[in-house]
Amino acid sequence: MRILICGGAGYIGSNMTAMLLAAGLEPVVFDNLSKGYKEAIGKAEFVKGDLADYELLVKTLKKYEIEVVMHFAALIEVGESMQQPLRYYKNNVSNTQTLLSAMESVGVEKFVFSSSAAVYGIPQKIPITEDAPKKPINPYGETKLAVEKMCHYQSCAGKLSYAALRYFNAAGAGNNCQLGEAHQPESHLIPLIIEAALGKRSEIKIYGADYPTPDGTCVRDYIHIEDLCSAHLLALEKLGGNRELIYNLGNETGYSVKEVIETVKMVSGRDFKVATVERRIGDPPVLLADATKAKKELGWKTKLAELEEIVYTAWQWHDKHPDGYL
Ligand code: UFG
Repeated sequence: MRILICGGAGYIGSNMTAMLLAAGLEPVVFDNLSKGYKEAIGKAEFVKGDLADYELLVKTLKKYEIEVVMHFAALIEVGESMQQPLRYYKNNVSNTQTLLSAMESVGVEKFVFSSSAAVYGIPQKIPITEDAPKKPINPYGETKLAVEKMCHYQSCAGKLSYAALRYFNAAGAGNNCQLGEAHQPESHLIPLIIEAALGKRSEIKIYGADYPTPDGTCVRDYIHIEDLCSAHLLALEKLGGNRELIYNLGNETGYSVKEVIETVKMVSGRDFKVATVERRIGDPPVLLADATKAKKELGWKTKLAELEEIVYTAWQWHDKHPDGYL
C-alpha cells in the first residue's frame, strides 16, 4: 500500500515512515524541509514540496498511486501561534484544505490526521474523554479543531474516511533510538531538559510552580513516539466507507514538570540548574488522556508506558546527536 506522509521528515512523521517501512508498506514522504530533515526519512521515496502547491500534490498522488494520506505537516508551538495566528491558520488550515482538495480531485479517500489534546482547551474533567467539550484556548488548538471539522463535513459529503488522532505529549526516540525529537529552536520540555543535562543550556526553567497540582507544576501525559505511531497503523486498517475515527492517544498517566526534570537527572546521571519562572500563557494545569476508546476499538496497547523508559530513549538519541540532525 502506498501512503503519502506529509511532513514525513519531521519528528513524528519520520518515526511513522520508519514504522511503515518496517511493516512492508510503501511510504512516500512529502515535505518542504522547513522543519524536517532528509536524513530522517531512511529509504522512503521523497518528494520535496509544499502543501500550498496544489498542482504538485495532485501530480504526486497520481504518480505514486497513493491510497492513503497521513498528515503530520503543521506548525506546533502554542506560544508562537498566539504571536502569529494568521501563519498558523495558513499553514495548518488552508494548506490542509489544499491537500484535501487535491485528494478529492484524484479520488483518494483515506486520511490520517495529527490532531492534538489542544482541541480541549482547559478541560473540565480529568482524564479527558473524546466527547469532552472542545474549547481551544489558542490558535494552534483552533487550527487542529478546524481541520477535524473540515474532515467531518468532507466525510458527511461521502468523500472521506479519516482518523483524527489527538496526541497528548509525544516524547522519546524511536526506531532503535535513531529518530529523535529535534526542533530548531527547541521548544519542548524533555529535549530542553536534556539540553540542560548535556550542558548545552545553563538551566531549565519551570514555567510556573503555583498550579493547582500536587507539586505546583503542570502535569502532562507523555506518550512514546512508537506507541503513538502504532495507533496510526491500527487506524489505517479501519479506514474506509466514510468512517470517522477519533481517538485520544496518551498513556493515561500524568507526570509533573518537576517529575520529568528528576527523571532526566536520574536517567542521564547529570545534575543541572533548575529555575522557577512565571507561568507560560496558555498552559492548562493538567492534561491527561482517557484512551479507553483507542484501546477498545483499535486494540491499541502501549509498550513504553513508564516515563523513565521514554526519557531513556530520548537521552540515548540526544547523547549521540547533541546537535540533532545538523
Ligand atoms: N515547560 C516548562 N519549561 C520549559 C518548557 C516547557 O516548564 O522550558 C512546561 C510547560 O509549561 C508545560 C510542560 O512543560 O507545562 C510541557 O510543555 P511542552 O511545551 O513540552 O508541551 P505542551 O504540553 O505545551 O504541548 C504539547 C504539544 C503541543 C500540543 C499540546 C497539547 O507539544 O503540540 O501538548 O496541549 F498542542
